[in-house]
Amino acid sequence: MEKLWSGRFKEKTEKVVENFTSSLSFDVRLWKYDIEGSIAHVKMLGRQKIIPQKDAGLILQGLNEIKTEIQGGKFRFLDSLEDVHMNIEQALIKKIGPVGGKLHTARSRNDQVALDIRLFLRDEIADVLKLLKNFQRVLVSAAEKHVDTVMPGFTHLQKAQPVLLAHHLLAYFEMLERDLERFKDCLKRVNVMPLGSAALAGTTFPVDRKYVAQLLKFPRISENSMDAVSDRDFVIEFISASSTLMVHLSRLSEEIIIWNNDQFGFVELPDSFTTGSSIMPQKKNPDVLELIRGKAGRVFGHLVAILTVMKGLPLAYNRDLQEDKEPLFDTVDTVKSSLQVLTEMLPGMRFNKEAMEQALEKGFPTATDLAEYLVRKGMPFREAHRVTGEIVRYCIDNKKALNELSTREFQQFSRLIGKDVFDYITVKTSIDSKKSFGGTSGRRVLARIRKIKTGK
Ligand code: ARG
Repeated sequence: MEKLWSGRFKEKTEKVVENFTSSLSFDVRLWKYDIEGSIAHVKMLGRQKIIPQKDAGLILQGLNEIKTEIQGGKFRFLDSLEDVHMNIEQALIKKIGPVGGKLHTARSRNDQVALDIRLFLRDEIADVLKLLKNFQRVLVSAAEKHVDTVMPGFTHLQKAQPVLLAHHLLAYFEMLERDLERFKDCLKRVNVMPLGSAALAGTTFPVDRKYVAQLLKFPRISENSMDAVSDRDFVIEFISASSTLMVHLSRLSEEIIIWNNDQFGFVELPDSFTTGSSIMPQKKNPDVLELIRGKAGRVFGHLVAILTVMKGLPLAYNRDLQEDKEPLFDTVDTVKSSLQVLTEMLPGMRFNKEAMEQALEKGFPTATDLAEYLVRKGMPFREAHRVTGEIVRYCIDNKKALNELSTREFQQFSRLIGKDVFDYITVKTSIDSKKSFGGTSGRRVLARIRKIKTGK
């Protein structure tokens, strides 16, 4: 088919070039936004009498018909027409005749595509926010069920101090809370209307950009036409926020993978969310979690890709910018599907309270509490640390746990230790006494859950 820009060309485009430059295979995804933007644009053109109202009416009708055709799967997209924008415009002209050619008055594909991506991303961010909140809800209700499930907290993946499982789960809630903020903040800068910037310099026609913004529900319009057609920092921001989110999801996945390992046995995954091995009949693998961990990598890759595409670009539009879409689209899909699958999986996970409790029997997880006991009796912390270290050493040599020592054995290390020491070195007292704000004591954790749920 004849190209819309064929006027100044003597030769036809080589097939290899058509294939190389076409973005249709991926930007076809923007069709709904392209039509929505065109509808607002043509309403403005008619209202401002830049084109006759009657022509605007015809174009509007044509665009609506095309929309119905695409929705019904009856529209034929042609790769030779380069991209989604050209396909729709060409179809319009074919449908209503040369008057369809008036749609592109006071517009360029450069501001058109910037608008389409912003419209698209605005919707997608709204979806991501919803999915994030759903996942947070699932985390909180798991936490609520485990406000008295104890487990070892780890540092260096070695048992460190006892914590509540609820506290551990809520740590992820807080990470996601910041992710939410990042996406909301990104949305502010996505939500800016670029149309009317035309190719790069603005337009000679008396466009009403505010009216277009109002029709499309944008709170702001862009201030500089050259910036508006050529920057994609809002795409960078979105992929960056997504990368951070994927770090969090990947860490959680890794954690559950470890808990699921039979050396730990802290959790059992629902059969319906695991897969078997083609050779080893006994296997039940956490593939979903491994894939989330793996998919974090591709999102980080997309961030590097978009940063690299942008970094050397002179103003204003350059075709390099077409490379913004695949990283963006794949990021959107990856983030959404990862959130979805985790949200569905988590309620089916069975935490093994006994295994978690048993894990606290070894490894001296209350040694810090013993040191703090000595501090309460007046010993400087550094000394208490050393004395406790010696007691731990003694326990290791004699194959005993702290609470298996007698008062007399304790007293060999410090006269400050009394019978009451046993009240300080149990898992329960250890956790209960972590009352500092943000700590793992039951009261603090319950208060946090209440605040999350009621705001108070
Ligand atoms: N497919 C193009 C893109 O995604 C649309 C804009 C084309 N503009 C141009 N001047 N060739 O960037």
